[in-house]
Amino acid sequence: MSRVKALLARASAAQKATPSTGSLLERGKLIAMLGAKGGLGVTTLALNTAVAMAQTGNDVILCELRPGQGSLGLQLGFSASKALGNLLGRPAAEISSHLIEGQLVSHGSGVRLLLASCEPHEMTMEAHAAQAEQWVKQLSTMTKFLILDLGPGLTEINKKVLPLCDRHLMVVEPMRVTLIMAKAILDEMEKMGISANRFEMIMLNRVRSSLQMPWQQAEAILNHSIASIVTPAPELSYQAAEAAVPMIQMQPESLTADQSRKLAEMLTQKGKSAGKV
Ligand SMILES: Nc1ncnc2c1ncn2[C@@H]1O[C@H](COP(=O)(O)OP(=O)(O)OP(=O)(O)O)[C@@H](O)[C@H]1O
Ligand SMILES: [Mg+2]
Repeated sequence: MSRVKALLARASAAQKATPSTGSLLERGKLIAMLGAKGGLGVTTLALNTAVAMAQTGNDVILCELRPGQGSLGLQLGFSASKALGNLLGRPAAEISSHLIEGQLVSHGSGVRLLLASCEPHEMTMEAHAAQAEQWVKQLSTMTKFLILDLGPGLTEINKKVLPLCDRHLMVVEPMRVTLIMAKAILDEMEKMGISANRFEMIMLNRVRSSLQMPWQQAEAILNHSIASIVTPAPELSYQAAEAAVPMIQMQPESLTADQSRKLAEMLTQKGKSAGKV
């Protein structure tokens, strides 16, 4: 009995020592993945990169920070998830590590997921950006790598969490309109005190076309270098979505899988990458 009492006392003391914001705990690397606009392939890229990271033994959480616009769970065949809504719908003071843990689901690859629903009424939770900032900090203490699928543009939530991140990836496509939109985001980030130099631009081509803008021209429009290029894989992405399996697991030998592994390597290396992948 006395041994049990001593153990309980120790556990309760440890719990009291854990701050609710997690600010004194060691945080994992926070990786932001942002789209210059919607539908560019951010979720697909975030998922495949996360799986590639897990395949080399890394502890990874992927969080889809898109209230009411989630598609990650659907892509993987999970039933409707209220996880993000459950966290954004509560005052920050009520959010404990235990509550956050309870919202995570595990994928067969080893990646843990915090999923968003696709219920349109939850889109108004975008206004709860201050809560998001608090629990994202806590979530980052629960893993070595936390990937945030931020979706497109500078939403209120994105403005709060981007300054917390260690790596900033922005997905663009080789289209003038998209590149001008990306440049506008970079300029706005500069005004917020986040240097455009901190962004690593990922050029994701979803369509095969003989009319492709050369990456040098894209770099000139962005006034920024491109860190990585993802080639089109329309058939594989369709098959993977239908089978609810990440592309990297569906065809591990494909060029797309290779590109996900290279990006994962770039993100798990210490410091910032210098070259292209
Ligand atoms: N490399 C690729 N080649 C071809 N199609 C792709 C590629 N990557 C993703 N796609 C396809 O592009 C579409 C959009 O992908 P995804 O949902 O990942 O984009 P998103 O940027 O997260 O969109 P949203 O803004 O709605 O969140 C999907 O149909 C997906 O299968
Ligand atoms: Mg998405």
